[in-house]
Amino acid sequence: MQIKPFHDPSTYTLTYVVYDEHSRDAVVIDPVLDYDPSGSATSTRSLDAVASFIVEEGLVVHDVLETHAHADHLSGSQYLKARFGARIVIGARISEVQAVFATVFDLGASFAVDGSQFDVLLADGETLHAGTLAIEAISTPGHTPACMTYKIADAVFTGDALFIEDYGTGRCDFPGGSADALYSSVHERLYALPDDTRVFVGHDYQPGGRRVRWETTIGASKEANLQLRAATSREDFVRARQERDAKLAAPRLLYPSVQVNLDAGRLPPPHANGRRYLTVPLRETPNVPCTVRDIDPAELVRLGKSVRVIDVREPAEAAGELGRIPAAELVPLATVESAAESWKKDEPLVLVCRSGARSSRAASHLAALGFRHVMNLRGGMLAWNDTKAASAALA
Ligand SMILES: [Fe+2]
Repeated sequence: MQIKPFHDPSTYTLTYVVYDEHSRDAVVIDPVLDYDPSGSATSTRSLDAVASFIVEEGLVVHDVLETHAHADHLSGSQYLKARFGARIVIGARISEVQAVFATVFDLGASFAVDGSQFDVLLADGETLHAGTLAIEAISTPGHTPACMTYKIADAVFTGDALFIEDYGTGRCDFPGGSADALYSSVHERLYALPDDTRVFVGHDYQPGGRRVRWETTIGASKEANLQLRAATSREDFVRARQERDAKLAAPRLLYPSVQVNLDAGRLPPPHANGRRYLTVPLRETPNVPCTVRDIDPAELVRLGKSVRVIDVREPAEAAGELGRIPAAELVPLATVESAAESWKKDEPLVLVCRSGARSSRAASHLAALGFRHVMNLRGGMLAWNDTKAASAALA
């Protein structure tokens, strides 16, 4: 069995072509469709390198094996399926990941959450045959529930469960992730394999700027893995993993990757205009508290000429029996927004109407437009006239 690694420096991903040099039977593990988020552009640069190797070596690609639904790169599986007729294979628990993210992306009932987008779903312990290659599926959840390690002869392809020993393990803070589950996966499943089992990792982040590495052994990991050695206790690992995850930013390509990879690497269907669109859910900041302040007529009197008074009633109302506040400018509600274009944002404004309802709406709207000192006359002209009458009665 031969293993040919391909490294994508922009996502730190390792893709492998694994093949039988005699039969030419092959599988591809974790292929990358390049995606540049700044221009929202895909490219097949990474896939072309893999495909050229397959063609040059005369390989028969039976399967694309996904170690999991990646959150940091788009899968190139559909390209290899179309070009070489490969089946797309993933762990059966992908349905759990689909169920969570179908909600995040609001995919609706038409998106099946049963893994049926993939050609083969493997359960723990199952063996898949790709020509002369026998691939054993070892369930290694923790980074995601669906993570699979694939064992082919004396090599395991661990995806994001286990990295090179100077980096550690995969993060466990995605929905359905579990540091406790990852401990079991690595400590009880992978570390139970013979020490000389070769380990091929899904990513290498080149700690300290060292050269890229993709291969280690179970023995070296048990001895020296920075986060999870054979001697590391479950409690220590879970605590340290969770502390580290709390400090990690979301992956740069999280949303483009997950929505494509959930659908077995298919890009979203084109709209009527022929273009495809990726969806990015927005995480909004909490609403900024409304800065409008209600004031009563007495306060308006005190403020005097320090404020600009805007009466939002219709001209006929303003000419009616309730009268007008002498300094008020008449700006009917429907015209406030356009009139406000010439107003200064830091000028104190008091909005007035008949009862205080329309002026309150206008005040909120102005605050939303960025006016920083907006007040509303509580009770409107009705309250103003009552106060005037009261003052007059007291005088
Ligand atoms: Fe991952």
